[in-house]
Amino acid sequence: MSFGKVIDKKNTDLSKSIDKQKVPEHVAIIMDGNGRWAIKKGFPRSFGHNKGVSVLKEIIKVSKKLGCKVLTVYAFSTENWTRPIKEVDFLLNLFSEVLKNEIEEIHEELIKIKFIGDLTPFPDALKKRIYFSESLTKNNNKFLLNICINYGGRQEIVKVAKELALKSSSGEIKPSEVNEELFNSELLTQGIKDPELLIRTSGEKRISNFLLWQLAYSEIYISEVLWPDFNETEFLKAIIDYQSRDRRFGGIESSPNESFDDSHFSPQ
Ligand code: IPE
Ligand code: IPE
Ligand code: MG
Repeated sequence: MSFGKVIDKKNTDLSKSIDKQKVPEHVAIIMDGNGRWAIKKGFPRSFGHNKGVSVLKEIIKVSKKLGCKVLTVYAFSTENWTRPIKEVDFLLNLFSEVLKNEIEEIHEELIKIKFIGDLTPFPDALKKRIYFSESLTKNNNKFLLNICINYGGRQEIVKVAKELALKSSSGEIKPSEVNEELFNSELLTQGIKDPELLIRTSGEKRISNFLLWQLAYSEIYISEVLWPDFNETEFLKAIIDYQSRDRRFGGIESSPNESFDDSHFSPQ
């Protein structure tokens, strides 16, 4: 039996445990651990970023096949500019190359691609590729791939606050009209439902300024696996774990019609 078949069998078994009716529509991923993966192998960090791209390609395919509708990935944070200039340059160049090489296939797969973040500081050539990719795929409706670059959750919230303050001072809205719905309509993710599931790889247990508003009620799954080693099996494990959660949203249990029996409770 070939190695490939062993892997296939494992994934077939795992996918049998998945409830097709409870697949999350929107999965967000903090793809972390590229540098550590490369260093462990005695390679430069850039090697891990390269491998990370092929993992992302696999996870797009797997999540689409499973029935997810939206995948939002963190590729470059507002804080990542503090890395050595060589690494930043490498990453920007990688984004550009990957877009050039993959956009046709993305389009053929009827995937709509959207970049989320402040694109202003990026080189013109990268911006051009981004705009081209977004406009080429804008009518695709099978799957939405959001790539967060130069993205920060706090910066996004400040941006929304500014927009609403401007609208208020120009008289377009009244301060008393500001509510969650209006706030949502100014987010970079406007129109996209919040992620039901957040996956972070590499074992780190933090959000690192990702989707602070949108993750308010997402289930969080931390994988110990470094992103370049992440794969279909690990993704399926995350989905199975997600499906075992009791999402209470501040209530008591998922079946809200249970009666509340307080007959034995006598406050002092
Ligand atoms: C995630 O991997 C990719 C980016 C942040 C661009 P890292 O580069 O953070 O890898 P580690 O966490 O240092 O191993
Ligand atoms: C978060 O990873 C950002 C991305 C994956 C793009 P980092 O490696 O930058 O986060 P920290 O430094 O561990 O918080
Ligand atoms: Mg990291």
